[in-house]
Amino acid sequence: MSVIYPLTGKKILLGISGGIAAYKCAELTRRLKDQGADVRIVMTSAAKEFITPLTMQAVSGHAIADDLLDPRAKSGMGHIELAKWADLVLLAPATANLIARLRAGLADELLTTLCLATPSPIAVSPAMNMEMYQAAATQENISVLAQRGMLIWGPGKGPQACGDIGPGRMLETSELVSNVVDFFNIQQSLFANVNITITAGPTQEALDPVRYISNYSSGKMGFALAEVAQKMGANVSLISGPVPLQTPAHVNRINVKSALEMHQASLAKLAYCDIFIGCAAVADYRPEAVAPQKMKKQQGIDNFTLKLVKNPDIIAHVAMDINRPFCVGFAAETEDVAGYARDKLKRKNLDLIAANNVAIVGQGFNSEQNALTVFSASDIFDISLADKKTVAYQLLEIIYQQYNLLDTCPQNNGSSQ
Ligand code: C5P
Repeated sequence: MSVIYPLTGKKILLGISGGIAAYKCAELTRRLKDQGADVRIVMTSAAKEFITPLTMQAVSGHAIADDLLDPRAKSGMGHIELAKWADLVLLAPATANLIARLRAGLADELLTTLCLATPSPIAVSPAMNMEMYQAAATQENISVLAQRGMLIWGPGKGPQACGDIGPGRMLETSELVSNVVDFFNIQQSLFANVNITITAGPTQEALDPVRYISNYSSGKMGFALAEVAQKMGANVSLISGPVPLQTPAHVNRINVKSALEMHQASLAKLAYCDIFIGCAAVADYRPEAVAPQKMKKQQGIDNFTLKLVKNPDIIAHVAMDINRPFCVGFAAETEDVAGYARDKLKRKNLDLIAANNVAIVGQGFNSEQNALTVFSASDIFDISLADKKTVAYQLLEIIYQQYNLLDTCPQNNGSSQ
């Protein structure tokens, strides 16, 4: 079993300058490491007044770099090596002073020197008093850094340490981690020119004009997959059951209600689909007939029998097609998760199936988090409990690996298992 995190293997140089938001850097470092990143810390001397180097060393697991001319650093990683080591330099908090010094191109202490020497992208997360942020000099400095290609993340608005309320707060830790994850997704463009169709949400099976049969699916996992796949470069079509979620940017959303409509919309996408992800909780059965008028209570009759007929198995139809795309199903189970998932993988002719135990409170259906075990014919991958966007990223990494394995293997090209 292997676990892939969104930032596995990514090297992040966190540059901390002297603002009160520096106190958040211990948590930021932990959260980046949780996502698989290796984090090294550079601190200005003012930063050390707000958070101790010992704390940052303990959470990062590396000695802190803070001195340009420190002879000890020569036996470890010198400033040029550090500058080359990073995949991303993240300056958080970036004070007005640091921003001004970056703009001027100063190299009189370690952090600004590193920023001049690094070939890697630099993300600047401004954090300062709102008046300082709005000052013409700071605004001009930030726009010059942006023109030079630096990423400007923030600031956020809200109450400040000095009591003012306005723009100048460092972005929250979760926002910064999410920006870093997105940054690497976009960078990699793993799915450039790949068409991905995703089904999401529940279906509604009408009984009469005012009633339907449905389930608790929120659609959040499918929407997270659509958002992340698009950020990874894919052309994404999202066939969605009725859910009140916002369509992710640049995603082509097709709204449907019933399983029959979802079936039709999915088959219509087959000719333009390289990867099909069936994340929808499709109703297995629908009422045999839809009453044209609202059904009335029958006086004196306490039982009511409803005749249901089976819906088409959308993903199985897609996966059995002669021009089948790479097919990924979901198995939401309440018992024997692995057994049912493996059975569906085979029976529906899928390439991968992502299984989760929806009986566990706080994961899966209608929750913000999820955990998955992903089965291929020969492998198992574990994705541990995390927010659905993080899980989506990890699942798409697995899909990318497996899709490429099939793609580069001629006897498997376009064939079923
Ligand atoms: O409902 P079941 O557990 O069989 O769902 C497994 C997979 O099959 C899911 O990916 C789901 O989206 C898909 N499915 C489908 N059409 C159905 C039933 C399920 O595409 N009628």
